Amino acid sequence: MSEYYQIAVDGPSGSGKSTLAKGIAQKLGILYLDTGAMYRACGLKAIKSGIDTKDAEKIEKMMKDIKIDITHEDGTQHVWLDGEDVSTDIRMPEVSMAASDVSAIPCVREAMVDLQRKISEGKNVILDGRDIGSKVFPNAKYKFFLVAAAEERARRRLLELQQKGVTDTTYEEVLRDIERRDLQDSTRAASPLVKVEDAIEIDTTKIDIEQTQDLLLSYIRE
Ligand code: DC
Repeated sequence: MSEYYQIAVDGPSGSGKSTLAKGIAQKLGILYLDTGAMYRACGLKAIKSGIDTKDAEKIEKMMKDIKIDITHEDGTQHVWLDGEDVSTDIRMPEVSMAASDVSAIPCVREAMVDLQRKISEGKNVILDGRDIGSKVFPNAKYKFFLVAAAEERARRRLLELQQKGVTDTTYEEVLRDIERRDLQDSTRAASPLVKVEDAIEIDTTKIDIEQTQDLLLSYIRE
């Protein structure tokens, strides 16, 4: 058995995974890997190249010469697409749906899962995503599945966007986007979003980030 451990945090968009995982990584002094950012980089490349994000054949071709790198500076993850730091661009609302589209294409998943395993090699790491406990690290020492009501997730996502200066989107649009992505991410054939049997479910609808962190840490210490 490996001397290193992984903490898998899966769940739908806006359930609080990334804030939670980032905080836990800091507390435990381990690496945080935001896997959604990688699919976002693929989605961004498709948008920039004018490729239909649902066209599997064209996306497959695109994946042949894509270069995605992940670096960490002072605990903050940076995502590089073909040599350019796209950490901010990948958060634009239109990239969310594009990421969800391309993430349903098997060759995209294979490439990203390989990269995630490579980055995690020889380290203690907490990863957030959709398939960490089911596919990337099925033997992860700890597995969590975060859920929250769609309305609460939309409220949080809107706030996050506003804080980033994105003001041309409404609550209704964000909610619609979340519901569309929930459906697409959980019904796709390749590694859909599922709660695996050995994952601990945490509902974050009515608890704040501090409480969620404490709850997760209490399970780890148990
Ligand atoms: O976590 P996020 O919202 O940044 O993820 C963007 C999209 O990427 C999401 O809609 C589905 C996809 N994704 C995935 O399929 N598997 C992962 N491990 C992470 C994200």
